[in-house]
Amino acid sequence: MQVFVEPDVGAVAKRAATEVIEGLTGGAHRANGAVSHGIVVGLATGSSPLGLYRELALAQTAGLIDFSSAHGFALDEYVGLPARHPQSYREVLLREVCGPLGLAPERLHVPDGSATDEESLIAAASDYERAIAAVGGVDVQILGIGVNGHLGFNEPGSSLASRTRVKRLTARTRSDNARFFDSIDDVPTHCVTQGLGTVLDARRLVLVATGPSKADAVAAALEGPLTASCPGSVLQWHPDAVAVLDEAAAVGLRNRHYYDDSAAGL
Ligand code: F6R
Repeated sequence: MQVFVEPDVGAVAKRAATEVIEGLTGGAHRANGAVSHGIVVGLATGSSPLGLYRELALAQTAGLIDFSSAHGFALDEYVGLPARHPQSYREVLLREVCGPLGLAPERLHVPDGSATDEESLIAAASDYERAIAAVGGVDVQILGIGVNGHLGFNEPGSSLASRTRVKRLTARTRSDNARFFDSIDDVPTHCVTQGLGTVLDARRLVLVATGPSKADAVAAALEGPLTASCPGSVLQWHPDAVAVLDEAAAVGLRNRHYYDDSAAGL
């Protein structure tokens, strides 16, 4: 695991973009020799990766990477939002990623949370796993982390081996995400999320976390025990995980000097 602590959110976005591009164009990409389907990037929503997406758009303009034939796979989607709801993750990613990065909307894959019955939602989750496999898996999965340690919408207690499935959101996650809705009553109670096992299958993980509210979750995820109580701790189980933090999010880390020495190439 590599941990980079940057002075501010702008530097976090730049470092994270560098790590994502390296993963998409370098060693992580097709490391297993699979037939190439082009770049496959896993996309988180929420506030944390927004600066990173802007940096990736700049990198594309500068000719450092080309997303025009890339596939993007969302981490998760709410269940039960009306089609085209502005806070559905499909709409968020169309706005924040497809437009700025030139990623074709038909190659943006998002779990289907539109069904109203459990059987159809379960089928949609299985379809999603098949869609990821059909393009040879995810090269780089971009991640944020919840204040309760959730990864995707794998809330504490999620199986470390879980696959894409329907999950209930915790009260904490619904209240954290109420800022995107008119009221907390409008925040869905359920989602379809990639499982932790699905996330771990990506060839590289790049986690972005900023601000003091993330400090406890970051410390637990990066330096606490590997446990379902902190889903973010699965980063420790991945052979190519990168965490990019600002000072506030890194404040609880015990091994900070080591990370800084490693980042400096010492
Ligand atoms: C987003 C997702 C969540 C967020 C997490 C942090 O697709 O699955 O795990 O990454 O809730 O959200 P922000 O970045 O808004 O603090």
